[in-house]
Amino acid sequence: MKAFEIRERFGLDALTLTDRPEPRPGPGKVRLKLRAASLNFRDLLMMQGLYNPRQALPLIPLSDGVGEAVEVGEGVTRVAVGDRVAGQVAQEWIAGAPTTAKLRRSTLGGPLDGMLAEYIVLDEDGVVHVPGHLTDEEAATLPCAALTAWNALVTGGLKPGDTVLVLGTGGVSVFALQFALIMGARVIVTSSSDEKLERALKLGASDGINYRTTPDWDKRVRELTGGIGVDHVVEVGGAGTLNRSIRAARPGGHISLIGVLAGPGEVNPVPILMQSLRVQGIFLGHREMFEEMNRAIDLHRLRPVVDRVFDFADSRAALDHMAGRAHFGKIAIRF
Ligand SMILES: NC(=O)c1ccc[n+]([C@@H]2O[C@H](COP(=O)([O-])OP(=O)(O)OC[C@H]3O[C@@H](n4cnc5c(N)ncnc54)[C@H](OP(=O)(O)O)[C@@H]3O)[C@@H](O)[C@H]2O)c1
Repeated sequence: MKAFEIRERFGLDALTLTDRPEPRPGPGKVRLKLRAASLNFRDLLMMQGLYNPRQALPLIPLSDGVGEAVEVGEGVTRVAVGDRVAGQVAQEWIAGAPTTAKLRRSTLGGPLDGMLAEYIVLDEDGVVHVPGHLTDEEAATLPCAALTAWNALVTGGLKPGDTVLVLGTGGVSVFALQFALIMGARVIVTSSSDEKLERALKLGASDGINYRTTPDWDKRVRELTGGIGVDHVVEVGGAGTLNRSIRAARPGGHISLIGVLAGPGEVNPVPILMQSLRVQGIFLGHREMFEEMNRAIDLHRLRPVVDRVFDFADSRAALDHMAGRAHFGKIAIRF
């Protein structure tokens, strides 16, 4: 089968199209013929050796993909040939509290081989049926970004009438916007681009703040909330934005710590205690959460926002597009 690999060294320019033997499913396993994949910032870090410098190579990258079950091994009951399923990124995290093994050692696209190949064999417990109204490209955006956004809001105890602050307009953030809206919340979005803010407003955000032209966006968030602050922050910037996110939150508010997009910075923890904030690390989500999220997507006929679709052969161009940060929402690859 055709597969892209990071072979002998890290780097996007090391991505190589190669031939690998077609994998066959043993007992309890399912072989998927992949139809679409999607990109996450994590994939860029992984391929550059920045996520885990000790990642063993060669690696087939990408955590997210959707495919058709074309062969099932002995004893498989959760999936039938012909079913359309996505891979659960943390393959072994099915439900309940996470463990190190479930979170770090069983994730697709590093340390385990990922989705940038014609076929993949997964455990039947590590796949999830996807909502029927979605295209393959849309369905392929769900496993990492959507599930993480869903986990952040659900774990944060979002209620109708709450206000959510979403940083930027990448994959996780646009899903957080869409999910917060179906949960009945008000959403404030920041972005480096007025054009992207317009798109966020069209999707239903109540307010947009350009963090380039309004560098003290936390003040603007407080103004927009009557001086109180927001109930939840979907924090994808990390150390470079966290101080402002803390100032943008109301006393007792919730901050989901998800990403590292804004680079390094020094964080002052004192306002966290003075404001009784709940700061919660969020890492992906378990399979049962994925299934719950899919029920909501199905019920609300929610459509993921796909910025652009690239052909499998143009995977490198898709990665460059992501690195350029011109996208709004998700980038997909069609097989
Ligand atoms: N913990 C987890 O389980 C988990 C899961 C998924 C992702 N993540 C992490 O979450 C982050 C987002 O991932 P993603 O895949 O959604 O990324 P992405 O699609 O590449 O997001 C890129 C966008 O982030 C925004 N951004 C960059 N710097 C920013 C800043 N200083 N302030 C506000 N927004 C900024 C920009 O939006 P504008 O162009 O609008 O300015 C940029 O276009 C990454 O750090 C990723 O590693 C973590």
